[in-house]
Amino acid sequence: MQLIKNEIKKRDHAIKNICCIGAGYVGGPTMAVIADKCPHINITVVDVNKDRIDFWNHPDVNNIPVFEPGLSNIISRVRGVNLHFSTEVNDEISKADMVFLCVNTPTKTKGLGAGKASDLKWIEACARQVAKSAVGHTIVVEKSTLPVRTAKTIQTILESSQPFNSESNGNKTFSVLSNPEFLAEGTAIKDLESPDRVLIGGEDNQAINSLSDIYSNWVPDSKIIKTNLWSSELSKLSANAFLAQRISSINSIAAFCEATGGDVREVAKAIGSDNRIGSKFLQAGPGFGGSCFKKDILNLTYLSEYFGLKEVANYWESVIALNEWQKQRIARKVVDNLFGTISGKSIAILGFSFKANTNDTRESPSIDIAKKLLEEGANLFIHDPKVEKNQIEKDLNIPEFKHSDYDENILRANNEEGSWMYKKSIKDALYNVDAAIILTEWNDYYNIKWDELSLNMRRPAWVFDTRSVVKPDEIKKAGLNLWRLGD
Ligand code: NAD
Ligand code: UGA
Repeated sequence: MQLIKNEIKKRDHAIKNICCIGAGYVGGPTMAVIADKCPHINITVVDVNKDRIDFWNHPDVNNIPVFEPGLSNIISRVRGVNLHFSTEVNDEISKADMVFLCVNTPTKTKGLGAGKASDLKWIEACARQVAKSAVGHTIVVEKSTLPVRTAKTIQTILESSQPFNSESNGNKTFSVLSNPEFLAEGTAIKDLESPDRVLIGGEDNQAINSLSDIYSNWVPDSKIIKTNLWSSELSKLSANAFLAQRISSINSIAAFCEATGGDVREVAKAIGSDNRIGSKFLQAGPGFGGSCFKKDILNLTYLSEYFGLKEVANYWESVIALNEWQKQRIARKVVDNLFGTISGKSIAILGFSFKANTNDTRESPSIDIAKKLLEEGANLFIHDPKVEKNQIEKDLNIPEFKHSDYDENILRANNEEGSWMYKKSIKDALYNVDAAIILTEWNDYYNIKWDELSLNMRRPAWVFDTRSVVKPDEIKKAGLNLWRLGD
């Protein structure tokens, strides 16, 4: 009976039920868009984190756990129709024709390869769960970013679930595909709805067609690239490494501009006008953040070393080294300009997420820069339109300074080690500060009325703009000093 079901499932390659394991920044938005574009497919996103699933099921779609422009609207259209969120991982795997693995793959913190290799324990756990709970033929899709050749490990785990000659479950079959995700946070919905390309790597043509048929519902065939498994896995790591490398390149030129009188915005425009170079990803800033660039390059360097390619590892490592230097350099510029000491001084941090339009703070440059300034004894007033106070507390690993009747003199006098407070509005964040540092390019910061708000700052006051957000003339007119990255 089971054999017949397998055959039918295999022959009829149209996917009807999808299970996505991992309800994070990729799993949630990706499945929401597939559900929206494919009303004929029933999708359940599962996660072991019950709180996260509860938030995805929150009656108010503005409270879903991932902030992405346009996502709430899609969720309100498809949730409870053909998109569901659940903690019943095994049950949902058993119903699925296709299972997406969308779990986290952070850098290992201990053991072999610690600090470089990706920790695959969550992926492995998923593969074991799929091996145990799948019924009939199941296509397993790697959506997480994985080291090259991980598909082999997954395949091995899946195959080991088929005991030789066992009547009971020997007839499970699997095909493993690689389908890395290229969305960027903050533009995830746009990226998913009109991707530059969709990449599918695999060996089983029928499985590849089943997956490409899903994307064909809204992505032109010309944009669906099919490769072998290893090219697909490696392309994802390489794409992130190339993107990050552009940022380190332009940040290195920003430092050069500061030393020589160039303006990095002008240089970026001049070099980006060359068709071969292109204008995107040439925005100098406080260093790249986000959960992936650093971890994926570290992974690439680990693999390079593993395969005996020391020079390749060194090359990519330098991209990260420059990024770390950039963050420290900015903190140093702040101290230098504030007469060499910031102990007891108040500084507004404008922006805590790693880029605009996301509430994600993973590897945000704001964390390292804020920590450095705290170390120097500064009192930070932190504002971000989307990042919550609890998250900042977790990231800085220092409790927020509490004072019921806020008195800045007490705060200043009290603090040798530095302190931080969360500020709900830009106006509150700028009140009585010696300086403001713009670290995230949120729209709100483009519209600050410096002529009004500067009146409440403590003179001589500074603006440090690491994102090319302010208009220098406005800052000057407001009687403020300006330091702009790459100027
Ligand atoms: P995330 O941490 O936001 O989400 C991962 C989720 O998986 C978590 O909620 C976790 O609880 C869940 N999970 C882990 N193990 C599980 C298990 N065994 N069963 C059920 N649930 C489990 O991660 P993310 O940002 O969505 O990234 C996921 C993957 O996608 C990573 O490999 C990342 O490199 C890659 N990626 C991320 C982005 C991005 O912008 N964040 C973009 C492209 C690719
Ligand atoms: C990045 C890639 O852009 C995605 O294609 C990829 O899917 C994703 O990583 C991933 O694998 O996780 P993301 O990190 O979400 O996406 O955001 P980006 O727009 O790439 O920005 C990353 C960091 O670089 C941010 O801190 C951003 O401010 C910084 N950046 C970006 C610059 O400093 N300058 C630029 O010109 C562009």
